[in-house]
Amino acid sequence: MTLTRSFVVARNDLARTDTLEHTLPPLGDGELLLKVDCFAFTANNVTYAETGDSIGYWQFFPAPEGWGQIPVWGFADVVESRCEGLAPGERIYGFWPMATHLVLRPQRVTDASFVDATPHRQALPAAYNLYLRTAGDPGYRREDEDLQALLRPMFITSFLIDDFLADEGFFGATRVVLSSASAKTAIGLAFLLHRRGGAEVVGLTSAGNRGFVAGLGCYQRVLGYDQLAELPADRATVYVDFAGSATLRQQVHEHLGDQLAYSCAVGLSHRDTARAKSPVPGVKPIFFFAPDRLRKRAQDWGRGGIEPRVAEQWHRFVPMARGWLTVRHGAGAAAVQAAYAQALAGQVPPDVGLVLSMA
Ligand SMILES: NC(=O)c1ccc[n+]([C@@H]2O[C@H](COP(=O)([O-])OP(=O)(O)OC[C@H]3O[C@@H](n4cnc5c(N)ncnc54)[C@H](OP(=O)(O)O)[C@@H]3O)[C@@H](O)[C@H]2O)c1
Repeated sequence: MTLTRSFVVARNDLARTDTLEHTLPPLGDGELLLKVDCFAFTANNVTYAETGDSIGYWQFFPAPEGWGQIPVWGFADVVESRCEGLAPGERIYGFWPMATHLVLRPQRVTDASFVDATPHRQALPAAYNLYLRTAGDPGYRREDEDLQALLRPMFITSFLIDDFLADEGFFGATRVVLSSASAKTAIGLAFLLHRRGGAEVVGLTSAGNRGFVAGLGCYQRVLGYDQLAELPADRATVYVDFAGSATLRQQVHEHLGDQLAYSCAVGLSHRDTARAKSPVPGVKPIFFFAPDRLRKRAQDWGRGGIEPRVAEQWHRFVPMARGWLTVRHGAGAAAVQAAYAQALAGQVPPDVGLVLSMA
């Protein structure tokens, strides 16, 4: 019998949290018991909680009525297996609850990956049900595990947005403006756009994060939110919005006017501001959902076509990320609670990455 401990949040008040314990039943045929070793926590996970009902993130790892388990990315070790081809001791990368243990039901097991076939997850986006066997993953390096947990889920989104914009000929634009330019997903995108060339990469960020963003070297121009007027509206521009603030989106759309070629809504990192619900001037913002683009590219490029492409860019990004990211570890329920509260309040500096464990 295995005792599992989970960190849960109140679905109607994300600041209210608790730690629950329960005993897992013995494994059934085809099941796998994993011990969650470590996971990253960023604004992306806060957005999972905020959109838990609308996008469905609460459904991955069910919790008692009124509570939710926020999904996180990280590593777990197989401790018991009743699944052919997977043995205890194996290390797996994927989507976990903030808990000590999880039972999966692997299917489509290959040397590189498997898919969780737990019934309640089948209607959810396939990208989240894919688990990578680290021994068969071209993107994995043991010494980069923290960076992988912290950056790779976001880097895949960065990769997919860069790929999407290039595929669309940048909608005729030669400038890309990113809000929340200090966010990890934005940094990954700026890195890829800068490497690709052909468009000026502009970062919009908070006054306090300007120096950090300017020092990254992948934005050609960095402006505080209060300096938007200094951005010349002299050429066709794509806006990629990670902040999700209605006020900022209105200002950017108004400022760029007819030069706004495309408005890509990606994130909601500014959780303390009004959400963009009312119509904005100019082109209509289009929500970019990484799992949808991933599904399209899986069809275009075939099985196994995405991973090597992402891995190639990822291995270029990691040395750059090592230069600016400091990892802060925390273990145990109290440390997880403290780190969560800090992330929820937007108090984690952009050059710090939280890697946590409930064990
Ligand atoms: N649509 C998709 O498929 C998809 C995929 C991946 C990520 N995303 C979204 O992209 C956003 C960024 O995620 P991330 O993990 O890259 O972020 P992160 O690295 O944790 O960055 C957080 C940044 O958000 C800004 N911020 C302002 N107020 C904040 C607050 N109250 N709490 C937290 N952050 C605040 C700050 O940037 P500034 O000072 O620069 O504004 C801060 O540096 C999230 O909303 C995430 O869900 C969407």
